[in-house]
Amino acid sequence: MIHFHQKFSHNNRVELLSRLFHDGISSLNIEEKEIRFLDIGCGDMSISKSLAVKIKDCHYTCIDIYPNRNNWVNYQQFDGNTIPFGDKTYDIAIFSDVLHHDFSNIESLLTEARRVAKYIIIKDHFEYGFFSRKVLQIADFIGNYGYGVSIPNRYLSQDYYKDLIDKLGLLELNRTWPINLYPNSLIAGVIIKKEFQFISILSTENHT
Ligand SMILES: C[S@@+](CC[C@H](N)C(=O)[O-])C[C@H]1O[C@@H](n2cnc3c(N)ncnc32)[C@H](O)[C@@H]1O
Repeated sequence: MIHFHQKFSHNNRVELLSRLFHDGISSLNIEEKEIRFLDIGCGDMSISKSLAVKIKDCHYTCIDIYPNRNNWVNYQQFDGNTIPFGDKTYDIAIFSDVLHHDFSNIESLLTEARRVAKYIIIKDHFEYGFFSRKVLQIADFIGNYGYGVSIPNRYLSQDYYKDLIDKLGLLELNRTWPINLYPNSLIAGVIIKKEFQFISILSTENHT
């Protein structure tokens, strides 16, 4: 399953998302000499590694809930709740397809990200009802089963997302939506609709 997924989807997804994250970060015109980003729920760190090559002058840290079995230099395990860094240590915090895997902790994870970073980039899914939820669950099963990641019961809706960021005092600067994540696969592109995918860039300055 991992081999199949790696070959047909993972590498294209990593390249596409890291390019879109890079475009988003460039649009922020961050003046620091070295951009510092934190990838929360980084998985195998592929996206961060690809993004770091594109940004060039950057320092990045990847955190996830699993132990550092491969002795990755940039990786740190954490408890999935409290981000183990000081206030505004990073320019950007990234959640790439992470928040829907821990729905019950969304608010606390975003609150922590707001504390440690100036901006938050979220890549996630929007559901629109029964059909989209089932399609996303099947796609999540295929993409994550071999890695032991749990399959969510539900996904964000557009209304839920708006209420969430308003409640947390986050300001949406930019949204990329819809996104065709499968430009090379007609079948996947038709079933997993581009309206299911979004990237949102948030400012964490106090907007309440
Ligand atoms: C679909 S994978 C995405 C991996 C990577 N971000 C990417 O886009 O390729 C979801 C990741 O979220 C992580 N995750 C789940 N709950 C989490 C939590 N509470 N805090 C941080 N990461 C979490 C999982 O361990 C997994 O690595």
